[in-house]
Amino acid sequence: MYMNFWYPVCASDELHEKPLPVTLLGLKFAAFRDTKQQAHLVSDTCIHRGGSLSKGWVKDGCIVCPYHGWEYSGDGLCARIPSQKKGKTPGRAKIDAYPTEERYGLVFAFLGDLPENERPPIFPIPEWGQDGWRAGAPVWRDINCYYERSVENGLDPYHNEFVHPSQGLPKIIAESTVVTEMDWGTHFIAHFGELRKKESGEDELEAVVGELRAGSLYHGPNTLVTDIHFTSETAFIQYGFEAPIDMNTTRLFLINMRNCMLDPELDERVKEINARVADEDTVILENLWPVRTPNTTTKELLTSGDEMVLRYRAHLGEWAKKGWQLDTAAMAQNAGDVAYAIPCPARRHSSNWILDEAPRLFT
Ligand code: FES
Ligand SMILES: [Fe+2]
Repeated sequence: MYMNFWYPVCASDELHEKPLPVTLLGLKFAAFRDTKQQAHLVSDTCIHRGGSLSKGWVKDGCIVCPYHGWEYSGDGLCARIPSQKKGKTPGRAKIDAYPTEERYGLVFAFLGDLPENERPPIFPIPEWGQDGWRAGAPVWRDINCYYERSVENGLDPYHNEFVHPSQGLPKIIAESTVVTEMDWGTHFIAHFGELRKKESGEDELEAVVGELRAGSLYHGPNTLVTDIHFTSETAFIQYGFEAPIDMNTTRLFLINMRNCMLDPELDERVKEINARVADEDTVILENLWPVRTPNTTTKELLTSGDEMVLRYRAHLGEWAKKGWQLDTAAMAQNAGDVAYAIPCPARRHSSNWILDEAPRLFT
């Protein structure tokens, strides 16, 4: 799991002034709205004596610890310590607070300490709000799988034939695949068609490319987009923002855009089809072994059909080299003894933080 990327926190309409507990990257956070309805995400651990802020409440725009009532504003600074009768609150009285953005009906938080101009962006949805495009309501589901397994599943066009037979997709014409590198990921698109006997040759086959094109991309470790072009004019694009809850669980937020079947009455049918496809993937993902991808490719037999998986893993390796990969083994070893926080951007310019930074693997 990696810090320094944007992660989906919850649906916008789930978040109110009452604090919402959220687990991401194996750590606990509290989300809330202030009096101006601005969304905030802070570390859940009160630095007084470890109270859980998400069990508290919001007062005058601050999140209040339920244990002794310390009040923290959305930027993480402690605004009030009720038991301290005089003097200023100490400078060390602060918790990690993360940048948030609300887009596409979701609340996103940047879990890391990079300054704004260095942050990988939230993957954009250019069709959002455009004439001729319809967005399904955002849906989310929890899957008992490691999020990288889920992303790799979405990057793998060859499972469709076996996992989603009812979709009746024709065969991929492998030679037609186009791979495009992006700033924070890779996109591929393949033409689908069928293999037919050549009229001239006895047993020779030729690929007849149909109109259907489909592909997918990853952006950062946790965004997966699937684009299906039924014709040159009609498409269905699914934006998947994956929230790694921990090493075994993933919350998948899906936003589906389409420029066909635009009648609102068809929303339910489209939703059902998507849910069926997701159910089919879930059965596979929840039974993969080991739960996490092995950390060496010698423990799997990858072939040319796994090219996107390899590119994804290569990118993860680059982010690990930047020091963004969490040392989840150390976190697990110290679970219950040490409260960690993902360092927030304020740690770059102020010192004296109470909680330890989540340990990272420096490769
Ligand atoms: S533990 Fe939070 S106020 Fe004491
Ligand atoms: Fe699938």
